[in-house]
Amino acid sequence: MTAKPLAFVTGAASGIGFATAVRLARAGYDITAADVDAVGLQRTAHAVGEAGGTATTHAFDIRDDTALTGVLDATGTPAVLANIAGVGVAAPLADTSTEDWDRVISINLTAVFTTCRAVIPRMLAAGGGNIVNVGSVAGLVGVGNRAAYCASKGGVIALTRSIAADYAAKGIRANAICPGTVASEWIGKILADAPDPEATRRAMEARQLDGRMGSPEEVAAGIAFLVSDDGRFVNGTAFVMDGGMTAV
Ligand SMILES: NC(=O)c1ccc[n+]([C@@H]2O[C@H](COP(=O)([O-])OP(=O)(O)OC[C@H]3O[C@@H](n4cnc5c(N)ncnc54)[C@H](O)[C@@H]3O)[C@@H](O)[C@H]2O)c1
Repeated sequence: MTAKPLAFVTGAASGIGFATAVRLARAGYDITAADVDAVGLQRTAHAVGEAGGTATTHAFDIRDDTALTGVLDATGTPAVLANIAGVGVAAPLADTSTEDWDRVISINLTAVFTTCRAVIPRMLAAGGGNIVNVGSVAGLVGVGNRAAYCASKGGVIALTRSIAADYAAKGIRANAICPGTVASEWIGKILADAPDPEATRRAMEARQLDGRMGSPEEVAAGIAFLVSDDGRFVNGTAFVMDGGMTAV
């Protein structure tokens, strides 16, 4: 039996990363599932199994280069890299501490850089590959109260374009996907902590022209398209999936 291609998914324990691991398993990949959340990763492994794939789970901080190299050495070269792990902090610039800035930039942007830097030489040696980095509409337009987050996601989009420019001729495609508001566990936590969760939910839904949030599965479908052969003419783009949020 020929081995299945491998997809390396970060942030795979929850939300968009979880849905992407399952979706790519359904598309015929085995999954290297990375996240800090060891318990959530077990749920992912189970769901990937039900989708017809196999997942190995790796609980580590994606900023840990040594752990990352160890996982890549142990699991093999991925045909697909989906950088999905991310965090946010709610504050305008003047209220953003240096600690919060550094944490958001290190996870959302620097770890995308280090993960791509670790994977790209392996992909090149294997003859090519596909990278999707999760940006956000917050990397395209100014979203209030999200200074560090907007900066990190703008960086992800620019970094992804540079990867496309450098490696397109060498068989690697790299795209950023830019979701609007997506009903993941993350958004669930923001709503639970809000003074008026129902009003906050309605306001978040209203930001999309479609009047609803997206689902993690819808974004996973976008990622599956970008890495598929159907997406072969899409490269270096900021692929927006936002229910029309940035159309007006
Ligand atoms: N939910 C949205 O509305 C939305 C919109 C646009 C972009 N995004 C982006 O999508 C991505 C996934 O978000 P989500 O909504 O699914 O959130 P989520 O909180 O449900 O999932 C994020 C996952 O990343 C993991 N993670 C965080 N820091 C990590 C680290 N240092 N090392 C390893 N894993 C780490 C978490 O444990 C979690 O499992 C993020 O990059 C986020 O910025 C989300």
